[in-house]
Amino acid sequence: MNIVSANRRHLDEIAAIENSTFSDPWSMETLRRELENPISLFLVCEKENGEVAGYISAETVVGEMYIGNLAVRQDCRRQGIGSLLLQEMVREAKKMRCEFVTLEVRVSNTPARNLYERFGFSCLGERRDYYAHPQENAAIYTRYLNEEET
Ligand SMILES: CC(C)(COP(=O)(O)OP(=O)(O)OC[C@H]1O[C@@H](n2cnc3c(N)ncnc32)[C@H](O)[C@@H]1OP(=O)(O)O)[C@@H](O)C(=O)NCCC(=O)NCCS
Repeated sequence: MNIVSANRRHLDEIAAIENSTFSDPWSMETLRRELENPISLFLVCEKENGEVAGYISAETVVGEMYIGNLAVRQDCRRQGIGSLLLQEMVREAKKMRCEFVTLEVRVSNTPARNLYERFGFSCLGERRDYYAHPQENAAIYTRYLNEEET
């Protein structure tokens, strides 16, 4: 497995994973904008054969990192890829001296919530009806980096 920066060559596979994973997937246009966004970091986990196994993207604004997307291809889950991607993003946040990393997740999304909790994120509250299709609250997870070693 190899973590690399996302590029145009990855977009078709990322879009396919989006469509098979989320009820409100990012469109190809949104994915392209994310690639070109200067404040975004968009990472891909490639398999040995070059296929996309998963990806994560985050925006950083004034020392605050917001993870906007994380997904692992269905047949590649439970092999540590989500952990690898999250670990790499937190490492980047530390390099940029971010104060914290934060994200929203559906309250019913137990796999993702377990992953974030394993990585030292704490649930600091909920946003009511944050998601549509189906309507659901978001849990807000945050990990403060200030007191951690870089
Ligand atoms: C959440 C997701 C990214 C996890 O990726 P992954 O590569 O399977 O995760 P890992 O193999 O690194 O698992 C790390 C830990 O997360 C938790 N976890 C992962 N999948 C889980 C599941 N199906 N049920 C319960 N806990 C789970 C476990 O604590 C796991 O550790 P363990 O395997 O030692 O028990 C993946 O399930 C996914 O793409 N889900 C759909 C998209 C999504 O929900 N994205 C997050 C939106 S905020």
